Amino acid sequence: RMKTIVRLSVSLDKELLAAFDRRNRAERYPTRSKAVADLIREKLVKHEWESGGEVAGTITLVYDHHGANVVETLTRIQHDFHRIILASQHIHLDHNNCIEVVVVKGSPEDVKRLADSLKTSKGVKFGNLSMATTGKKM
Ligand code: NI
Repeated sequence: RMKTIVRLSVSLDKELLAAFDRRNRAERYPTRSKAVADLIREKLVKHEWESGGEVAGTITLVYDHHGANVVETLTRIQHDFHRIILASQHIHLDHNNCIEVVVVKGSPEDVKRLADSLKTSKGVKFGNLSMATTGKKM
């Protein structure tokens, strides 16, 4: 859809704005408008995760594949949640360690349940859910 851009004027504490601009420069933001828009979207994404609509995200796991049943357990859990898994990729980091990325789309409740099941499995050294968005509402 075509997007209409509006200009707005905001009153802010001078030091607050200076700190914001310093942060944006450090993060290499091209414009203050992009930085403000990202802040607003971040807030909306947080709300999506709290309000129970449809969300997207990635689950990252690191584990030693020699661990007893760890591969079988992670596979079984992912089959239980196949409806919300779009893709997964397994990369062999070294002789022992694997990193796996699972891309998900579904209700926040299901996605969190899947992420919790995977990361609390015995043998998983690191587990993380990156809460993203389907992007439909922004
Ligand atoms: Ni591997």
